[in-house]
Amino acid sequence: MKKTLLLAFTFAVSLAACSKNSLEPAEENVTPPSKDTVFINLPKDSCDNYFYSVNTCPGDVCSSGINVSWGVRTNSEYCVVYLMDETGKTIRQTKLPASKAEMCTVYDGIYSKKANGENFYESARFLKYSYTLSPLASNTKYSYRITSSWMDPKGRKVTATSDTYHFTTAGADRWSACVISDFHSYPPLPLRLSSAMKMVETVNNYAKGQNGKGFDWVLHLGDVVAWGGSWSFWNIMYREKAFKNWMWAGLNGNHDNMTRQSVLSNKFFKYATANPLNGYSGEEGVCYSFTYGNTLFVMLNNEDMSTASGLAKAQDWARKVLKQSTARFKVVCEHYQWFYGSSGSTSQYSRWKDLFDECGVDLALGANNHIYVRSHKLNNTVYIQTPSSDNERGQDPIGELEYNQDKIAFRWNEGPKTVGALLMEADNDKIKVTLLDRNGQAKDMVTISK
Ligand SMILES: [Fe+2]
Repeated sequence: MKKTLLLAFTFAVSLAACSKNSLEPAEENVTPPSKDTVFINLPKDSCDNYFYSVNTCPGDVCSSGINVSWGVRTNSEYCVVYLMDETGKTIRQTKLPASKAEMCTVYDGIYSKKANGENFYESARFLKYSYTLSPLASNTKYSYRITSSWMDPKGRKVTATSDTYHFTTAGADRWSACVISDFHSYPPLPLRLSSAMKMVETVNNYAKGQNGKGFDWVLHLGDVVAWGGSWSFWNIMYREKAFKNWMWAGLNGNHDNMTRQSVLSNKFFKYATANPLNGYSGEEGVCYSFTYGNTLFVMLNNEDMSTASGLAKAQDWARKVLKQSTARFKVVCEHYQWFYGSSGSTSQYSRWKDLFDECGVDLALGANNHIYVRSHKLNNTVYIQTPSSDNERGQDPIGELEYNQDKIAFRWNEGPKTVGALLMEADNDKIKVTLLDRNGQAKDMVTISK
């Protein structure tokens, strides 16, 4: 009997390996265990190793749907997602059989590095879930946790429970977000990640001073890990409490797109997240758009825009999304910089300005250069790129502004050891962006009004 169960289970997992991942409704067709089955609930403090990279991502419309990304071991038979209200009371539970997950092997066998500096090959085969929590009420605080259940070799049903994760749906008249990038999380140098996480808290404290409650979500503009092909780097980063407290919308940066040996793939970012699948062909879940309240965000993958044809594809898609949207504010984000901060010379600005003018883009956000640059309003658009935030991989102190003196309003960094981030505050009439340094001091501010 046990052998039959084991065979049936193995078959179920092989089916899961062939299945397509999707943001689909759950099925309730998991075979119930027999009445003789012994159930074991693992103690909470031993459950960390059964869940990989749990993180909360935007849904297409963040007032009614929020996406969740996570991985579990390949022997997991099913997961249950428990949605809770602000008081911690479960208001919905959804069982997701392994057939709703995808067997992910994109990180498996990749040459990497452990926190102790030891070189190793990542062992990473897991079941990857992407699930949309929907419908949700607007302007509401929610929490969720996930359980994973499997049959152990003795025929006992074992269940592990994840930590609790929190998010707030869009819909408030006013909302705010922390905008951060370029912390290149690298386990042998843990201060990179801790510097960035401390900066997130600094931005939250500043936001509390403004609105009494802190910001609502985080927007990252790429290069959050040093090598996106290193699955352990994502796992370690996602254990930080900032990923438990807020939804994170993000971009694929050049570092997120590479392995230690410079193999490039957008799948590293895609499988570490559960973004909306509304991007163009080959970029689904990597390029995407979403609305948070009154604002449309168009998220680009500059790693797929280096050739003329790649750029044309991205621009065709972005133009369509921007023109179809009725959102009050339109924001476009890509990882690469608009201007080179040290001299002010033009970078991605020249490739995108005509489209942004044509489509009425209000704010263009970039990163990568590790120097904060903010433009004047150029036609309709203000261009801003974030500074780095890891206290390690910044640029030399900025020199004289040699180019684009008529376009660039302000530049800032702290040299090679830079830590900074932005607070973005929106209401129906304006978006205000404030640059904060590591001490929570406002160094620059711009208001984009309608
Ligand atoms: Fe970077």
